[in-house]
Amino acid sequence: MKKPEKAKSDFRYDTGEAKVPWAAVGETMNIEDITSIIELLIPEGKDDAAYKKQLSQVSLELEKLLEKGHFATKLSLGSNVKKLEDATRELLDVKHASFVTNATAGFEMGLKFAGLTPGDEVIAPAITFLSTITYPLQIGAKVVLADVDPKTLNISPEDIAKKITKRTKAIMPVHIGGYPCDMEAIMKIAKENDIAVIEDGAHAFGSFYKGKAVGTIGDFGSFSFHEVKNITSCGEGGIVVTNSDYGNDFPKARFGGFDIANPIDKWLYDVVALKGKGDHFSMAGNHSSTEIQAVVLLNQFKRLPEIIKTRKLNAEYLNSRFAGIEEILPCPLDTKDIKSAYHLYLFQLDHKRLNGDIQDFKTKMNDRGIINIPHFAPLYRFSYLKQLGHDTAAMQKSCPNAEEAFLHKFTHFPLYPLTEQQLEYMADNIIEAVHEMRKGM
Ligand SMILES: Cc1ncc(COP(=O)(O)O)c(C=O)c1O
Repeated sequence: MKKPEKAKSDFRYDTGEAKVPWAAVGETMNIEDITSIIELLIPEGKDDAAYKKQLSQVSLELEKLLEKGHFATKLSLGSNVKKLEDATRELLDVKHASFVTNATAGFEMGLKFAGLTPGDEVIAPAITFLSTITYPLQIGAKVVLADVDPKTLNISPEDIAKKITKRTKAIMPVHIGGYPCDMEAIMKIAKENDIAVIEDGAHAFGSFYKGKAVGTIGDFGSFSFHEVKNITSCGEGGIVVTNSDYGNDFPKARFGGFDIANPIDKWLYDVVALKGKGDHFSMAGNHSSTEIQAVVLLNQFKRLPEIIKTRKLNAEYLNSRFAGIEEILPCPLDTKDIKSAYHLYLFQLDHKRLNGDIQDFKTKMNDRGIINIPHFAPLYRFSYLKQLGHDTAAMQKSCPNAEEAFLHKFTHFPLYPLTEQQLEYMADNIIEAVHEMRKGM
């Protein structure tokens, strides 16, 4: 009988059944490795002795378990990574998904397929995290910062339109705090000018815009599963998605350009450059992710709807507490067209009505033990853009809303996991601080 043909795969060393499998060359885990992971994830409490006793019990149970099972030999890019990608495609209704090391790697992959070359321009919002613009700067592209919408702090489509030039290759909308950007306006501008859109969905896995999952509206979208995000793949991780045919080359873009399906003569595989828009070729990086990260994230996918629901209720609670306080500008909530993943609570002060601004307010919060989240300062304020030859003074001047928001108006508050008491304490103290600032205290 003819043997079934082995499925073509980008998964390295997936040799299937063999008397001496390839995985034999790599060390597998042992019980101590596994208990050290457990110790990391469930650190010792106050009672040392009881903890140690319990942990040795776990070791014994693991030994028993091992009599029934065996140690895994596939820890990178295996069937669980594939399961996670399949689940993502279904959840977001998107054609291609690739699990990578972080969102930043996903932007890199998207920008390579967009054909970004040195000297090209990329438009990104002034208010975001450095990762949005890392790859363009690494290859010597020029970053152009667009101003933000004062209500949402998301990139302003009007300012994008003003800043497009002949060299603009990509626009990178960032769904800050999980709240979707005005994608309809952005896609219209991009299509009219034949510019690629790479969505920074780092905060927005599970956000929807007009019925479509955020990240699937532009040419590419990349999400973060870093430990501070709504769900996490063991502290680091990202998923890049696309509906375009470039997604067929995601496996190559994720791992070095490996082409296992088309081996060269007398060798197991070929290594190819990635072909992007405009027939531009670039070299792939290594952004491979692990099976452990994949199983954990798959599990957290199940909890995501509940997590977003709780975050949403918390944001609604805070808005209800601030209703009628004219100096507090409400955090944008869901509408008919918008479903946010509520990663962060956007808090803005109408500082002109108060004695003091957000800087004074942040001091008051710190004094009360309410730690506001350190990001985001407008990117032109950091040293690196200037060091890399960008005119940061001109950038600053061209982004008045970002500047005003940063200096005087905005901060983010956490939404989860907070106890009812913590949430109430936060609301009470925010209100009290605003009252004090009203009186000039
Ligand atoms: C807006 C934004 N974009 C991108 C990233 C980068 O995500 P990652 O660490 O997964 O690369 C972050 C991380 O916090 C972020 O806040």
